[in-house]
Amino acid sequence: MFVALSLKRPLLLEGEVGVGKTEVAKALATVLGRRLIRLQCYEGIDTNQALYEWDYSRQMLQIRALSERQLADDSAVDQLFGPKFLLERPLLEAVRAGDGAVLLIDEVDRADDEFEAFLLEVLSDFQVTIPEIGTIAARTPPLVVLTSNRTRELHDALKRRCLYHWVGYPSAEREVEIVLVREPGASDAMARKVVAAVNRLRSLDLVKPPGVAETIDWVRTLDVLGETELDARTVEDTMGAVVKERDDLELVRANVEEIATGG
Ligand SMILES: Nc1ncnc2c1ncn2[C@@H]1O[C@H](COP(=O)(O)OP(=O)(O)OP(=O)(O)O)[C@@H](O)[C@H]1O
Ligand SMILES: [Mg+2]
Repeated sequence: MFVALSLKRPLLLEGEVGVGKTEVAKALATVLGRRLIRLQCYEGIDTNQALYEWDYSRQMLQIRALSERQLADDSAVDQLFGPKFLLERPLLEAVRAGDGAVLLIDEVDRADDEFEAFLLEVLSDFQVTIPEIGTIAARTPPLVVLTSNRTRELHDALKRRCLYHWVGYPSAEREVEIVLVREPGASDAMARKVVAAVNRLRSLDLVKPPGVAETIDWVRTLDVLGETELDARTVEDTMGAVVKERDDLELVRANVEEIATGG
């Protein structure tokens, strides 16, 4: 993160599910006192949703309000494609905000190839050209954090632009610390037990191994039920906080004793 900030390079985070990739961008924004601008990627996302869009319904209202004679005048039509009717989407917002922002491009692996190529362009010069308005360039680039869950490989060109960091599971010690920060009411002993159990789960061949987010959820679930022990019964009762796949449930049930003891 320090190097990304110093060299003004985007940071690409890949890693397991629920290990705090998205949280990195949020934490950076908070710590640096910058605005967090988030672009959530999904299949089929295009430049309209990422960059800008014309406010079509407001343009229509405006046209209706104009008289025939006004409409014949070019300037009235030009105004329809002016800043007043421009809807800024995250990438344009980030270009405008420059280094006052942290731009989070979340789950970039979900977007398709063409969108990735387009992102590459934006990331290389941080300027956006809107034919009707002109070119808007960032005076200083925002800090960019990209995350991916590796549902597909990203292109080399995009990777080359970024610094890369793999976010794996934290050590047990570290995970206990994270749990206690997020859930200060939890006892140290309980946090340890849950972390040990989660680590045991991760060593099983689960379809969806639990992330740090699930560890925190599990501790919260046990707390809300007033449980102070982690044994076969409590694991059975609270499994839904950590295991979210039918096949995984069966596997966990078959190993419930050793999971409860973290052994
Ligand atoms: N290393 C960590 N430190 C602090 N909190 C964490 C950490 N990892 C996860 N969390 C907590 O778990 C929750 C989920 O984390 P986050 O959404 O950042 O994970 P992610 O890696 O982006 O997951 P996904 O792959 O599902 O997008 C957050 O609310 C965060 O508070
Ligand atoms: Mg995420």
